[in-house]
Amino acid sequence: MSSSPSCQAAITAVGHYLPERRLTNSDLEEMVETSDEWIRTRTGIRERCILGDDGKATAFMATEAAQEALDKRGIGPDDVDLIVVATVTPDMLFPATACLVQDNLGASNAWGFDLSAACSGFIYALTTGAQFIETGQADTVLVVGADKMSSITDYTDRTTCILFGDAAGAVVLEADEEAGLHDSIHHVDGEHDDLLCMRGGGSLNPPTHETVDAHMHYLHQEGRQVFKFAVTRMADVCEEVMNRNGLDAEDVDYLVPHQANQRIIDATAKRMGLSSDQVMLNIDRYGNTTAATIPLCLFDWEEDLERGDELILTAFGGGFTWGAGHLTWAYDGAENGA
Ligand code: COA
Repeated sequence: MSSSPSCQAAITAVGHYLPERRLTNSDLEEMVETSDEWIRTRTGIRERCILGDDGKATAFMATEAAQEALDKRGIGPDDVDLIVVATVTPDMLFPATACLVQDNLGASNAWGFDLSAACSGFIYALTTGAQFIETGQADTVLVVGADKMSSITDYTDRTTCILFGDAAGAVVLEADEEAGLHDSIHHVDGEHDDLLCMRGGGSLNPPTHETVDAHMHYLHQEGRQVFKFAVTRMADVCEEVMNRNGLDAEDVDYLVPHQANQRIIDATAKRMGLSSDQVMLNIDRYGNTTAATIPLCLFDWEEDLERGDELILTAFGGGFTWGAGHLTWAYDGAENGA
């Protein structure tokens, strides 16, 4: 966003969905060779939510989160102009999950699409949705981050199965003259595509008995190497967005980081000069829910947020994709929606 639009896209409500079933570290101790102590100290995670296999998938969670956001804002599905769903676990490769959410909601005036940027999906979708508000193409945009990570997690691989959970988060975007998304910076670097990927199921490796036997339909991550990139890139891009907007640590009320590993979040906050009470952290309860982590943080902290609070949102994920945004909060959260 290089020009200065006359209005910003502000978040005016937040919704969420968390499956009831919990997968705890002690459950995982029964499944793979690991320990509660290792998982907590290396990642910060204690438990995650799992949707299960009863026919429900990402679109279901996305719809629940979106409906909650609309209800809190006090508007109906017909008011929605655009639905952007960030996910790497769509119900099907096509139609887009956004189409399924549109139908589930009964959002008869909306169009929509899915956005694939792995763990950076929500901030990419927020920037994308904001463009339609700023240009006047849309009055009301639903931005949803939803992932059923349990559907692509290999529960025999201790290096990845401890990390991920299922959830959805959704926000309503509307125009505001002062609050909203002022700036965002995004990057991609496809050179390291093989460090965090799902190799099977696409046009390169369509499903065969061999791809299934080789576990190619599961998420693959070289954790140690990804960690090194994530920890520097996330801090770098936060500094970049703070510098470009003339923000010092004392100007920032909250950091809203993607929840992949508490050590990455702590390092980013330290580089930004923020104290732990300025950092939204809920990885202990949900693990890494990919596109859902940032709206889930906003949901959990909503009651503490006030109009005018300055937030830095940031994420890093497969691709590699990463970025950060500067957002001024638009409403007093205790009132539960703008
Ligand atoms: N339980 C017990 N031991 C485990 C384990 C587990 N669940 N998983 C790995 N280990 C072992 C490894 O085998 C290794 O043993 P070795 O030293 O004998 O080879 C040792 O623990 C250290 O492994 P390492 O991979 O170096 O651990 P780590 O400190 O890097 O933590 C991750 C692993 C995955 C938690 C961490 O690398 C990470 O968070 N990576 C980045 C995630 C991320 O940001 N992704 C991008 C967005 S999704």
